[in-house]
Amino acid sequence: MIEVKNLEKSFGTLKVLNGVSFELDRGQVLTIVGPSGSGKSTMLRCVNFLEEYDSGEIWIDGEAVGYTFGENGTRKRQSERQIARMRADVGIVFQSFNLFPHRSVLDNIIMAPVNVRNLSKNEARDLAAELLEKVGLSDKINEYPSKLSGGQQQRVAIARALAMKPKVMLFDEVTSALDPELVGEVLEVMRQLAEEGMTMLIVSHEMHFARDVGDWLLFLDEGRIVEEGRPAEILTNPETERLQAFIRRFKQAGLLSGSDGIQAAST
Ligand SMILES: Nc1ncnc2c1ncn2[C@@H]1O[C@H](COP(=O)(O)OP(=O)(O)OP(=O)(O)O)[C@@H](O)[C@H]1O
Ligand SMILES: [Mg+2]
Repeated sequence: MIEVKNLEKSFGTLKVLNGVSFELDRGQVLTIVGPSGSGKSTMLRCVNFLEEYDSGEIWIDGEAVGYTFGENGTRKRQSERQIARMRADVGIVFQSFNLFPHRSVLDNIIMAPVNVRNLSKNEARDLAAELLEKVGLSDKINEYPSKLSGGQQQRVAIARALAMKPKVMLFDEVTSALDPELVGEVLEVMRQLAEEGMTMLIVSHEMHFARDVGDWLLFLDEGRIVEEGRPAEILTNPETERLQAFIRRFKQAGLLSGSDGIQAAST
């Protein structure tokens, strides 16, 4: 469903992505962890072309993202229309919820499906009601974002992204800005989406979540994939010094327990 080939990206002289490649099948969940500044957000933003990339290729469901690739490594930027069409298939949720404050929850959710997918108001309202039920917020449909907790706003943001019926969902540290007691309710929604077979790319510092929900895990450092594998395996037995050090820091912060790698979340 997603294919990233040898992705490279610099900001000025700073090389932020240095040959990142991975593939993700339909219905699979890829979690990405790594230190601050390692390029996680930039990589995610390239996947729906919020960020242009310097070289490499990104494909979603068989369609090239951002460029049309020709012979001998040539490429041509796609039309804005083509890019917009691709973006409609890729839901993205950020740390900051970015809901429209002067619009109700309902309006926040139906705006894009009505404008971009040409749904009627009635169809869109039914869809919004269905999605709000899924994220456990049926009673908030007419509420304004400012009246909701951070966790509730983030769940609305997820419902809003889902309203476009995306082929893939991208999550960039969606729980990092939340009070600790609100993190669980958002992770639960994501867990449920994973179980329903949504293809997801998740950047997260919630290591237990990454291990339990992810089918595959990438450890990114300095714009490269330093280690990858099944989450439970590589987090329990990290091979590289860099991943070992990364995990150690989580333990020292009291965010992980156990003597090597990560012990089961339930313990
Ligand atoms: N628009 C930009 N212009 C210049 N430099 C940028 C820009 N966006 C990101 N960078 C730089 O690129 C590097 C990677 O940033 P990125 O946000 O992808 O890291 P990250 O892994 O998501 O970090 P964090 O865990 O802190 O969110 C950083 O050094 C950052 O300062
Ligand atoms: Mg980031």
